[in-house]
Amino acid sequence: MFEIIRRDGLARIGKFTTRSGTIETPALLPVVNPKICTVPPRELYDRFGFKALITNSYIIRNTPALKEKAQEVGLHEMLDFPGVIMTDSGTFQSHMYGEVEVTNEEIVEFQKSIGTDIGTVLDIFTEPDWSHAKTKASLETTLERTQKACEIKGEMMINGVVQGSIYTDLREYSASRMATMDVDVHPIGGVVPLMEQYRYAELVDVVMSSKKGLNPNRPVHLFGAGHPMILALATLMGCDLFDSASYAKFARDDRIMFLDGTFRLQDMQTLDCQCPACRGHTLEELRRMEKGKRTKLIAEHNLYQITQELALVKRYLREGRLWELAEIRCRSHPALLDGLRRLKEYQDQMELYDPISREGAVFYTGPESRNRPVYKRYLDRLGTRYVPPTDKAALFPDCQGKPYSRPYAEQFDKARRAGYTPIVVTPWGPVPAELDEMYPLAQSLFPSIPDEETETESERIAFQFLSMAGFSTAVDCDSIPEGGDVEYDADKLRAKAVARYQFGIEAADALFREPVELVTSRKTGKIRNVISDGEHVLSMRAGDGLYTLRMEGAKRIVSAVPAPHMRVAVSDDAVPFVSEGKNVFCQFVISCDPETRPMEEVIVTDKDDRPIATGRAFLIESEMRQMKKGMAVKVRSGSDDE
Ligand code: GUN
Ligand code: ZN
Repeated sequence: MFEIIRRDGLARIGKFTTRSGTIETPALLPVVNPKICTVPPRELYDRFGFKALITNSYIIRNTPALKEKAQEVGLHEMLDFPGVIMTDSGTFQSHMYGEVEVTNEEIVEFQKSIGTDIGTVLDIFTEPDWSHAKTKASLETTLERTQKACEIKGEMMINGVVQGSIYTDLREYSASRMATMDVDVHPIGGVVPLMEQYRYAELVDVVMSSKKGLNPNRPVHLFGAGHPMILALATLMGCDLFDSASYAKFARDDRIMFLDGTFRLQDMQTLDCQCPACRGHTLEELRRMEKGKRTKLIAEHNLYQITQELALVKRYLREGRLWELAEIRCRSHPALLDGLRRLKEYQDQMELYDPISREGAVFYTGPESRNRPVYKRYLDRLGTRYVPPTDKAALFPDCQGKPYSRPYAEQFDKARRAGYTPIVVTPWGPVPAELDEMYPLAQSLFPSIPDEETETESERIAFQFLSMAGFSTAVDCDSIPEGGDVEYDADKLRAKAVARYQFGIEAADALFREPVELVTSRKTGKIRNVISDGEHVLSMRAGDGLYTLRMEGAKRIVSAVPAPHMRVAVSDDAVPFVSEGKNVFCQFVISCDPETRPMEEVIVTDKDDRPIATGRAFLIESEMRQMKKGMAVKVRSGSDDE
């Protein structure tokens, strides 16, 4: 069972429950070679905190002593590991050495017989140089074997491996077939050669096209990925599990892993590492150390690098800033930067999962930052939901003070009195004065010295917007005529523009039925509440400048805008609970607006479209449909409260 607790991008913090315990994802499973055990499994558990590992059932089966022991006492006792044990099936050996002499049924049954928690199908490793036809044919065999494994798996969980070489259509096809089967984890396989050859752009293609077809209900394992440099990007793309054999393999070859690559002990100038394994040792000492002792020390160092980076990835994920960490990490190697740049092609897919708002500011790390879905979302909504209050625009350059209406207070006023709508040309694209306090615009930081690419692009987008939005003229802020006397109400313009941006034009019209009264904060002057026709319909949050929807507002939208706009419909048995203000869980969702994004204001209704509560969506439509467990909507107020 897999439950999503937090999310950011396609990344999630999840709880994955198996019969040997629950692991928090993202998690990395160290690979234990049952014949070598460079770092003993008990130490992995106690000292390093790994609550799950992966070992190889094919090697165990082919080694008589291990086979006998495993079948006699079980894998957990044999390895002395109390956590979750995943086993692989021999597929990787076939990739390395050619054929393996075991059938799918045999290896699945064997994994069951040794008490594996999560076993693996004998999938066919699709190599990056295979033709489309050869890859497709092998996929059918893997799918048949997976179906068979599901039938005989019993109490054991099973890995259904997505293959498909570098062909995005085959990856999506393979993933969507796997999604319909009774598998428990979705590994993405066949990617080791891509990572070994630093082909990260293709790795992004493979992961993103696989994710498209997969079931959000199950954790996704990126098979063979365990280098710290890839963890942030892979987690951002929605991989929940990783495994590393390299920590030990590299150690045996005197190769040391760092965030920016792997280095040979003989080539290094200094050790400069403060991890618990290296602390107190110099490079010279390490070189002179007895081989076995050195291998263990380097393996431990490698594990510490991985655990430290994974902890950082999780921290950024919790803070909603994983895009930033992935961008920073991808600058440590040009091939990773290719991966980040390729991710632009998947902006639409990423946008579905991007939260409407978050705490803290959006940091710009370079021109690639503009490929983040939060930029696309802003421009899309500006293009479809913004209505200019006048047909003349006054253009202002970006400045450091935010919201822009503060440093530009006098100039904006002059422009508006002259009948011009102030528009700031920013790295986000054009920002009309009415929207400047809202997330992500005010909650963002850019360097004060712009890069040329972003400057050119901001101007291009601004001019495109001016013609699309229907402005008849645009002037530079220096050319605004003096002494205008046009009357305007800045708060009211803002209140309605934000409502249109957030809920759509029709819904905003329903929410702003006259007479409209705005309650503002006495301390900050910011809008607090919108009272329309005597009803308190909206409250504006000070932090992100966006609205929370009140029950009265929800009723207005339901009467004015047909379903499914902003709706999450729940089954009858949930209605009494949700009406009291209890959260909505996936099991009870009948339908949801496909336009819903995480953290979006939604209206919970009964099956006949009667509004019963308001709240914020935690999942998107496809997730609500497919997840078996977990919160779908965090309910704020139920109809019974009012
Ligand atoms: N280990 C690394 N890659 C793979 C893969 O594609 N399939 C399996 N079963 N194991 C792997
Ligand atoms: Zn170290």
